Amino acid sequence: MIFAILFLCGFAAKWQHVSAQSSLDKRVDSVLALMTLEEKVGQMNQYTSSWDVTGPMPKGSRDSLKYIQIRTGQVGSMLNVLSTKATREAQRLAVEDSRLGIPLIFGYDVVHGFRTIFPIPLGESASWDMNAIEKSSRVAASEASAAGLHWTFAPMVDISHDARWGRMMESAGEDPYLGSLIAAARVRGFQGNDLSAPNTIAACAKHFAAYGFIEGGREYNTVSVGDASLYDAVFPPFKAASDAGVATFMNSFNEINGIPATASTFLQRKILKGEWNFQGFVVSDWASVAELITHGVAEDEKEAARQAVIAGCDMDMEGYCYVPNLVTLVKEGAVDISLVDDAVRRILRVKFMLGLFDDPYRYCDPVREQNELFSKANQETSRDVARRSVVLLKNEGNLLPLKKDAGTIAVIGPLAADKDIPIGSWRANSVENSAVSLLEGIQAAVGKKVKVRYAQGVKLSTGTRSFLTEVNVNETDTTGFGEAVRIAKGADVVVMALGEDCWQSGEARSRTEIDIPGLQTELLAAVRAVNPNVVLVLMNGRPLDLTEVEPQVQGLVEGWFLGSQAGNALADVLFGDYNPSGKLPVSFPRSLGQVPLYYNHKNTGRPTATGNVFWSHYSDEKNDALFPFGFGLSYTSFSYSGMKLSSETMKMNEPLKVSFTLTNTGKVTGTETAQLYIRDLVGSRTRPVAELKKFQQITLKPGESRVVTLELTSDDLAFYTREGLWAAEEGDFEAMVGPDSRNIAAKQNFKLVR
Ligand code: NOJ
Repeated sequence: MIFAILFLCGFAAKWQHVSAQSSLDKRVDSVLALMTLEEKVGQMNQYTSSWDVTGPMPKGSRDSLKYIQIRTGQVGSMLNVLSTKATREAQRLAVEDSRLGIPLIFGYDVVHGFRTIFPIPLGESASWDMNAIEKSSRVAASEASAAGLHWTFAPMVDISHDARWGRMMESAGEDPYLGSLIAAARVRGFQGNDLSAPNTIAACAKHFAAYGFIEGGREYNTVSVGDASLYDAVFPPFKAASDAGVATFMNSFNEINGIPATASTFLQRKILKGEWNFQGFVVSDWASVAELITHGVAEDEKEAARQAVIAGCDMDMEGYCYVPNLVTLVKEGAVDISLVDDAVRRILRVKFMLGLFDDPYRYCDPVREQNELFSKANQETSRDVARRSVVLLKNEGNLLPLKKDAGTIAVIGPLAADKDIPIGSWRANSVENSAVSLLEGIQAAVGKKVKVRYAQGVKLSTGTRSFLTEVNVNETDTTGFGEAVRIAKGADVVVMALGEDCWQSGEARSRTEIDIPGLQTELLAAVRAVNPNVVLVLMNGRPLDLTEVEPQVQGLVEGWFLGSQAGNALADVLFGDYNPSGKLPVSFPRSLGQVPLYYNHKNTGRPTATGNVFWSHYSDEKNDALFPFGFGLSYTSFSYSGMKLSSETMKMNEPLKVSFTLTNTGKVTGTETAQLYIRDLVGSRTRPVAELKKFQQITLKPGESRVVTLELTSDDLAFYTREGLWAAEEGDFEAMVGPDSRNIAAKQNFKLVR
């Protein structure tokens, strides 16, 4: 109470005094020194509000109980508190009513936008454009902070090879190098250069670790992964986020080799806080501390709390394990007080960095909230990022771009006029049905010059669609087929919009089929039978099996869930106002049976056909992807020529330059993402057949050429060696350049020497 009074009559000034005079650590320690054990444990506790529940229903669902606990210093953070009004109200309880007045930190899943929605992360990753990605996170941070939030549970940086897993939509795809660049870009975007600026928020790299490697792609399932994959594939984007200064990490629901990540000392203390010297704090995933009991490694909540704190999990999200047990655990000597102090220091440090001790209401600005959310400028940024994320997969006979005086366009399909599905499943504070539909985008692009006809054709699902329920895919009702076929017959070109409901990907949305769901493929066949000029626009959150539909269409456009401006962005690409530049961040399989599928696989002992069956293959399908990692077409074409290496040998720590000439051989200006892969020909451990190591985006006018130079250093060649070191090994390498991971235009060998 004394402190509450002090706060009201000048305590804020005292914090300011501390902050002005001292280093961050001193300021943190000065607060820590005032705290009781109970208050320390309180800082390690995070509750959800009931505004937006993003997990199983919370235990203390009555907010009033939680509010009492805020007043008694038992809560350090809340998630899912929305709006300046609500955050101010909760913050007031912490800073004015609790003994020490320590401000709360408010977190939320701002995954691809807050009110203005951007493409789902997998889609945005297809832009390969770090400026665009950084900008999108910057806008998201700006909107979220305008609504009183301090912290996003993003970026999700899990590498995944399994299209069955619904959360692939949230990832940057299958490649650790691309994933690392994207992780860092998103951290920069959210956090900016100054975490205390009112328009930046703390980021959170999640889910540490290996969540993307769950067995069978089934959500929350078991993970068994060897050290080599852990270091080579799983860790790099997390390390990149840590190096980029990410303020927080989230651990994960899954176990790894028998130890739940939340209880893993190896992950959280040895690797993250030890080897990587991460200074921020680790939050559990939703109730993942309590789930140590269901995993079967702890008999009760007390033991779960003990294991999690010892392992380095600093904050308990909706787990209800720390507050009831941690004080006793410390008093009994089962948890050393230094571990609690370390956790609290980390949490306070982030609060100080956000400027919350200087002004706990800094982020509560209703005027900014009013002006910034869904602003015109943010819509423009979203449209630009969205069109960069579109990937052109097929363009037979150059049907695309469509002409703006093309006669009649039939726009058909369950997703064509849909204004909700493009928002995707991590939709934060967006408004339902607020996306520009494809139909609206096309209509706006052509105005009155083209007749645009629309038919839904078929419903994708039946019943209620929601965040909490399964999607009931329509498998029977074909009543709309007739109308679709009728308008297709009379059209010059058909644009079909097919794909998944956005609630078929995301958390808890694993699928055992990865085809286009329901009756949509049948609809396509019916339309195709009367009009062969079909452009198929896909909306989906994972790689789909397109083997059946690809031959039926002349144009194939991967449109993910592109966010608020989806329809306009797609129209920009369809009509050539934007020449597509996206490249797949993930392999699209030929069939589900190939999954897990990824381009940077190992060679095996029997990689090639030998004249009989005894080689590594399927009897009924090719090994490679239908559309490989890195693939994407443009309305122009590019050639690669004159590849040169600056030397045939590369010295440790000295760069090797790989150059080649890129020429725009087509008729319009376009942007190519030129890619450099390497292969380590002999290693102490087996090495992938190709690994992306550098790329560059180059815009060229028709006929224009440019020499592109990409630089490799021995750091780029490092991996987890047989001795358990992260190191590059001397020996022979292959450098390969080209437009994607399969179509290598040129390659040359070099040798790494000491
Ligand atoms: C569970 C998810 O796994 C995590 O990514 C998310 O941040 C939390 N729920 C909070 O909503």
